[in-house]
Order: sequence, then structure tokens, then C-alpha cells
Amino acid sequence: MNAVVSDVKYLQEEIKKLASEKKAVILAHYYQRPEVQDIADFVGDSLELARKAKETDADIIVFCGVRFMCETAKILNPGKKVLHPNPESGCPMADMVTKRDIEQLKEKHPDALVVSYVNTTADVKTVSDICVTSANAVNVIRKLDAKKIIFVPDQCLGQWIAKQVRDKEFIMWKGFCPPHFEFTAQEVERLKERYPDAPVAAHPECHPKVTEMADFVGSTSQIIKYATTCEADKVIVITEVGLKHTLKKKNPHKEYIFPESMNYCGTVYCCTMKGITLDKVYETLKNEINEVVLPEDVIEKAKKPIERMISVL
Ligand code: 13P
Ligand code: SF4
Repeated sequence: MNAVVSDVKYLQEEIKKLASEKKAVILAHYYQRPEVQDIADFVGDSLELARKAKETDADIIVFCGVRFMCETAKILNPGKKVLHPNPESGCPMADMVTKRDIEQLKEKHPDALVVSYVNTTADVKTVSDICVTSANAVNVIRKLDAKKIIFVPDQCLGQWIAKQVRDKEFIMWKGFCPPHFEFTAQEVERLKERYPDAPVAAHPECHPKVTEMADFVGSTSQIIKYATTCEADKVIVITEVGLKHTLKKKNPHKEYIFPESMNYCGTVYCCTMKGITLDKVYETLKNEINEVVLPEDVIEKAKKPIERMISVL
């Protein structure tokens, strides 16, 4: 075994040992580095991770994801110590809308309900009526007893929902997920030319020009189900490349083709998701540092829209 591989294995074993000694659970999003996903007790999409964080009886939650995910875990399970291995790993889209922005929108549209994508700050959630994730957005919004919806912050997810929920009026915020927004229709076209028999699966955070070209649109967990079980032996997958690790584990017999062009961070992946490394997980758990702390009143208010979402489905 070479030195790098043995370092990875050594750190993974040490982290697992620490986690068991400290009664800690490690949760990771599908966009995390493969070696981080491999030490997690559970890997999932935003909705599945929120559910796990709410249910766990572990003393410590080590959350390998971006800040809003850690905040959601703390809000749903405030008695637990939630540790974020890299406190600088935020979601740029979540930071595109503020509590003040929502308050101003509410003043302009007092008859509208505020639906926040779970990719928002805890502060924004305190002034939201309900949260959604990409896995449940259409179903949750269809069930809402309101004709007018303020949807924040992702304009792409918002437009994708609006196409399916025709009987409601949407006031859209103009936020976007930088890595998904930068996948272009031209790139998808090129991939389709190279792999003419491969269907296209895309995340709804992609630009509408991209989702319009897709054979399947869904959240990360929905893409996993589609890509690993559809008949084709090659699938073009338009989302963050971290998903390839789970796809290969679930069905290694297929080829998964991801976009290859560089995004705003000069990478093909979401650079804040990849800000969590094994070293950081180890240091964080060993020293119980990087604890997620939120004011009690924020937890109380932000809990309502998240729990409302969980109770709808
Ligand atoms: P899901 O895993 O819920 O599809 O979310 C994708 C994402 O961009 C998370 O940051
Ligand atoms: Fe945020 Fe997009 Fe990265 Fe997810 S993939 S954390 S939405 S920037």
C-alpha cells in the first residue's frame, strides 16, 4: 500500500474509533469527498440528512456538509453537540438572500406564503412559512393552501417547480447555485453527441435550458435511483461530481458521465462541499471543536418551517 493510501486508511480508522468512543454519528452529503463519505454512518441528500439528524440518539453529530445543513441538524436536535469540520464551508447560494430581503418581500406581498429552499441560513428560516428540499418541493408546494408563493433563493429550482405547479403564482428570488448554474446547454449537447444512447439526468438547481434537455430531473437521491436502475448502461449525470462515488458503489456495472468544464472556483466540483477533509474531521471530533451554536430564539423560530416540511411528507 502506498503512503497516501495508508494515511487515508489510518485516519479513517482513527475517526471511526473516536466516533465509537464518543458516541458520535457521522453524517455526510453525497457531494462530500469519497474518503469522507466512506467514514460516514449515513450518506444522504438534504432531506434524508435532516431526518437522520432529528432521529439520532448519538451524543455528537459530526456533519460533513455545508453550514446550512449543520444548522438544520442543530435546529432539529438542539440538545446534541453538532460539529462542523470546516466552519468556513458555507453554501454560496444560501448567502444570496437575507432575513431583511424576506421581510421586504412580505411587506410587498402580504398574502403570499414564504417557501424557503432548505439551502438558506437559520435567520432566513425564522421568517419563512415552510422549507422544501429538491426532493419534496413540488409535492409540498402543491399541498399549500395559498395562491401566491414567495420562493427563495434558487431561481432555477423555483422555475422548475413553477412549471409543474401551474395553479400558483410565484415571486422568485434571483439566487442560484454557482456550480450547477455554470453547467451549460452546449456542454450537455456535446455529451449527448458523444454518448447518443445515454439518457440525461439533471439536478433542478441546473439552469432551465439544461433541465429542459434532461430525460430525468430530481434531487441527488432521486438521480441515484434513476441512474442506477434505468435500462441504459451509460448515463449522463448533470450535478456535482461527488455523486459518482455513490453511483459506482450502488451499481458499478454502469458508466456515469459528468460534465468536465471548470466552474467559478476553477474546479469541476462544489469547492465548499470539498472543504471538509479527513484531517479536519479527525481534529474536530478529537478536540470537539467547531461546534455549531445558534441563539435559542433562532432555533425556536427556524424549527417551525423545517418541522412543517417534515410533517407534510
Ligand atoms: P440535494 O442533495 O437535496 O439534492 O441537494 C443538493 C445540493 O446542492 C445540496 O447542497
Ligand atoms: Fe450550495 Fe450548490 Fe454547493 Fe450545494 S452544490 S452547497 S447548493 S453551492
